[in-house]
Amino acid sequence: MMNLLHDISLKPYNTFGIDVVAKQGFVELRCASDYDSFAEYISQNKQMLDHLFILGGGSNVVFSGDYDGLVVHPADPIDGGIRLLSSDGDICMVEARAGVVWDDFVSFCIRNGWYGLENLAGIPGTVGASPVQNIGAYGREAKDVIDRVHVYDLWHDSQCWFENSECHFGYRHSIFKEIGRARYLVDRVVFRLASHFVPDLSYKGLEEAWNSIDEHEREFVDDATLMSMTVRKVRNSKLPDPKYIGSAGSFFKNPVVDGDVYRHLKELYPNVVAFPAGDNKYKISAGWMIEQCGWKGRDMGEAGVYEKQALVLVNRGRCTGSDVVALAESVINDVYSRFGIKLNPEAIIV
Ligand code: EPU
Repeated sequence: MMNLLHDISLKPYNTFGIDVVAKQGFVELRCASDYDSFAEYISQNKQMLDHLFILGGGSNVVFSGDYDGLVVHPADPIDGGIRLLSSDGDICMVEARAGVVWDDFVSFCIRNGWYGLENLAGIPGTVGASPVQNIGAYGREAKDVIDRVHVYDLWHDSQCWFENSECHFGYRHSIFKEIGRARYLVDRVVFRLASHFVPDLSYKGLEEAWNSIDEHEREFVDDATLMSMTVRKVRNSKLPDPKYIGSAGSFFKNPVVDGDVYRHLKELYPNVVAFPAGDNKYKISAGWMIEQCGWKGRDMGEAGVYEKQALVLVNRGRCTGSDVVALAESVINDVYSRFGIKLNPEAIIV
């Protein structure tokens, strides 16, 4: 039986802390039978597909007002939701249910000697969102560790697996975003992890932090745990903790431009921060451009640009969705006028 709740504030369910409701109800999914009953409900109420929002940890979403539809939320599973499928001495295949909190999953894997997620420690959100968004940080992306993804296809009343190569993973992108949000409901993800820990220090700031750990600490804590602690430390130095400051993480994507555009920009602004993105393309740091426009640390209404990382918009207290949208538009316009580059939100505005 599906438990459809009404008048539930979504404030605890989005890290920006915006206080709205879903006008057609709110459903939590905690076990396999909840997913089945929800899929059954949709198959009998297909019109709901146009008014359905799948809400994971709410860490990448900004509600611009009450949601005119039904919100479904894969929640922390009753049975823990993580299991080892196989292990051959080098590779461990680990399955996690969509509602598992991502960072709990990272810690659980490290404790059990399943490695590869350390650089993704501290990312808010749920396991179910990791393939949709292809979450990434500090030189690693979810696509590097995802083996396959199991989904309910709500359009066709069926279930199927997507192998990694079928997921169309790209920078903060996947097939699950491409086809429309309400088609595929992810219910579990299988990760291909390693039995031996190898640090990934490809991100510059991480190597410095890793090398500065004192020998005494290394004696008492294993390397994988130390790496995840280092990642959290670097993260906390730049990004707000959603427990204390509402935000949706990076609000904008780093724009990827052609080589010609980059070289022209470099002539005008020799300090431009950019990274090669393959194929004669460059990823320009959106944070740098926003900072150059003087937005870092500035507020508009109750929304603000975070003082330590300009890519992040934050809730200064009683922020509404329209405050965020107004601030985002001003930032986009200013960056465009100055650099001729249009920023696109990474966060989903609903
Ligand atoms: N920079 C500035 N000013 C700023 C911010 C950044 O000049 O206000 C420049 C600095 O030179 C800095 C460089 O940009 O060295 C890169 O900054 P950072 O390492 O913080 O990375 P980012 O590109 O701004 C991305 C992800 C983050 C992820 C970090 C680290 C996106 C949209 N964001 O940010 O992901 O944690 O790299 O890997 O790709 C998220 O997606 O929510 C998120 C936090």
